[in-house]
Amino acid sequence: MRKIALCIALAGVTLAASAQPAGRAPFNEGWTFEKDGVSRELDLPHDWGVEGSFRQEYPGESGKLPWWGKASYRKSLEISEEELATKDIDLEIDGAMSHATVEVNGVDLGGWPYGYASFAVRLNPALKAGKNTIVVRLDNPEESSRWYPGGGLYRNVWLTKTNKTSVAHWGTYITTDIRNITVSEQPRKFDFDSVEKLRRFSPSRKTWADADADITLRVTLKHAGEKTVGMIRTQIIYQESVFQDGQRVTVDRVLAETRSIEYIEDGKTIIQTFELPHAALWTLDSPVMYLARTTVETPDEVLDKYETPFGIRQAEWKADGFYLNGEKTFLKGVCLHHDAGALGAVWNDDAWVRRLKMLKEMGCNAIRTSHNPPAPEFLDLCDRMGFLVMDELTDTWTVPKKAHGYAELFDEWAEKDLVAMIRRDRNHPSVILWSIGNECGEQGDSTKWWIPRMLTDICHREDPTRPTSAGNDNPWAASQGYAGTIDTYGFNYKPHLYAEFVKNHPGQPVFGSETASCISTRGYYRFPVEEEKGKGWAMEAPFQVSSYDLYAPGWASKPDYEWEYEDVVPECAGEFVWTGYDYLGEPTPFNMDPSVLTNFHTDEEREAFKRMVAGWGQEIASVPLPSRSSYFGIIDLAGFPKDRFWLYQARWRPDLPMVHVLPHWTWPGRVGQVTPIHVYTSGDEAELFINGVSFGRKAKEGYRIRWDDVVYLPGTVKVVAYKNGRVWAETEMKTAGKAAKAALEVDYAGEDLTYVTTRILDGKDNFVPTANNKLTFKTSGPGTVVATDAGDPTSHTPFYSRTIDAFNGLCSVIVRRTGPGPITVTVTGDGLKSAKITLKQ
Ligand code: GAL
Repeated sequence: MRKIALCIALAGVTLAASAQPAGRAPFNEGWTFEKDGVSRELDLPHDWGVEGSFRQEYPGESGKLPWWGKASYRKSLEISEEELATKDIDLEIDGAMSHATVEVNGVDLGGWPYGYASFAVRLNPALKAGKNTIVVRLDNPEESSRWYPGGGLYRNVWLTKTNKTSVAHWGTYITTDIRNITVSEQPRKFDFDSVEKLRRFSPSRKTWADADADITLRVTLKHAGEKTVGMIRTQIIYQESVFQDGQRVTVDRVLAETRSIEYIEDGKTIIQTFELPHAALWTLDSPVMYLARTTVETPDEVLDKYETPFGIRQAEWKADGFYLNGEKTFLKGVCLHHDAGALGAVWNDDAWVRRLKMLKEMGCNAIRTSHNPPAPEFLDLCDRMGFLVMDELTDTWTVPKKAHGYAELFDEWAEKDLVAMIRRDRNHPSVILWSIGNECGEQGDSTKWWIPRMLTDICHREDPTRPTSAGNDNPWAASQGYAGTIDTYGFNYKPHLYAEFVKNHPGQPVFGSETASCISTRGYYRFPVEEEKGKGWAMEAPFQVSSYDLYAPGWASKPDYEWEYEDVVPECAGEFVWTGYDYLGEPTPFNMDPSVLTNFHTDEEREAFKRMVAGWGQEIASVPLPSRSSYFGIIDLAGFPKDRFWLYQARWRPDLPMVHVLPHWTWPGRVGQVTPIHVYTSGDEAELFINGVSFGRKAKEGYRIRWDDVVYLPGTVKVVAYKNGRVWAETEMKTAGKAAKAALEVDYAGEDLTYVTTRILDGKDNFVPTANNKLTFKTSGPGTVVATDAGDPTSHTPFYSRTIDAFNGLCSVIVRRTGPGPITVTVTGDGLKSAKITLKQ
């Protein structure tokens, strides 16, 4: 069974592959994992932290899960005499958390300390013909991260066998120049069968762009022995998905070919060029991808085949913003940490397709991979689904934020890590910025500005086509020479400085690299609704934050504050909201780990925070708080949208008729009390009705429509939104009765994982927004429960538990398919009629 599951899982990975040689194969199956004296068999990717239980005494800042410690992964490898003589054999690891060393037959072959880097280790020096033992040892130090890092070989691992003469590791670099852009409703040149497939990710207006393209490919070779003559041939291919004999198959259409007869020498780079008239462009609506297939040949044999997926697009940063294919494109971005909620740090294609689809639905078009390089498959998905990416190196340079954080590695590894990130990622059309760091302490020290300058220079050397940036929080640095050390200026939480920056740095692009940091808990509301900072929560149970989207910690703001500046500074290229999804760790405002102080941007703010904590009779790091995941997400950890989702959707998809109303309307204890109703809409006015009685039609003030004096009466709330005087969208909700039954629905069905949502309903099928019933999940057929999560940041129920309390009416269960055939998922709940759903293949 395990084999089948793995094939299914990897089918997704293969589909979304990054540049790679033909001799590269997944090496994820059948490892022996050992930690704390206990060993077991498992398949990768694997995160030992998320398998553990939450413990109150573990740091909330990194998720209250046991992710640190030493461990090893062992696997045997058969190599033939012939392979040993003729091939270079590399172990490629896309993320080992952390301080990895690779041993073959007891010989240490080196490794890589940074847990977010991809790296390759040449195994040949210690390999013998026959059976070999590979051991990857990890040593993940405590106090090394401000969020949940995970622990283990948590991304894909590959075994790569290449000829001694072949394309080097990450040895291709492709760039495109375009002319004569034409935008139309339909594809002009190709009748791509897979257009629909691409477009299902794209809920926004569909356009198709083409242009005449000049493509330049640089191929770096590796070679052992004497200089020799060979041919490097590259074909530019569009892989079309077509029906043939009742089956969907992929057909290669060769669009161009270049052959170069060359002397082959180790390390030599050759340049090939191609012309592609009327090439379909990579756009956010139709992210068309091509393939450059490079072969290294002698007259007698093909020595190597190497494939580089790429897109044809023009990304330009100008003084007044970012342009994609000549069209000004406002960055509607979110920051994302690398965990996928209940799966922890484990990379999984399905988990991330589901997450990205929901972001696309919201109107998001850009992601900042805060604060580290992502899994390579993440960029493949962004390529294929049409997102722009700010690819980030690190959270620290030499000034530490944590005792064993990246500052310990910087001097020896920063250049290697940056080069690894760029060479791995520079062929992805989605990547538009190299971010060299986040809120690094050196901003405030002019004697250290050589550091960002050096990092920018490395980026330019490795990829002259993309500018650099950084997430900057020091307001002083923005007005100093520091600003010139990066190409584009990213402000963290300083929209009030955009205009001044534009004035003082004419021509330098500027944007919000981190914005808002609004906090809330899905479905939780606190009364009275007061706008002041700190009023949305209390340092007491239930340790939740009101979902009126008005609250933020000291350094941050509600979304509206950012928008007020974006709307008056046309040069602002866009924003990356902190964050798209809740993540494990950093449960601000219930984050009392000392590193919370690094979030404040001045000593004054830090002192005020310490005084506030002292006012609670506490010291930082001594408050016993239960929270283990963030409140920053627009979408909660389980993947359920919070109210804020619709606030952003209203702004980012102005053409989508929509209206959203909050809070929920089931308040048995509030009859007769003021219970404000707020409305988010892409319209410009709305009328509120409670039990059929109109509360009047109001125009948007700022970005919301508010009825702050409404007195609660149970019944029906209806809102009709208008745009330009015409009805635009409607929504209705009813006061729910007692929770009576569970209802199951498939939220996302992938090849490997299916996400099933439980909604708790009353006897009349109304959603019960306050229901927290205990639920138990079972499966029958070829499927198992991988994890459950209801999105409660304070829950200590382990993710592997099949019994979990629903949270504010909802719960998510993740089911893994282990073979073909129908899977039945059953949920039973305290006092609830149970429910069943069948997952077909
Ligand atoms: C920023 C920091 C992020 C996160 C955020 C929370 O200052 O760069 O990593 O901590 O604050 O608001």
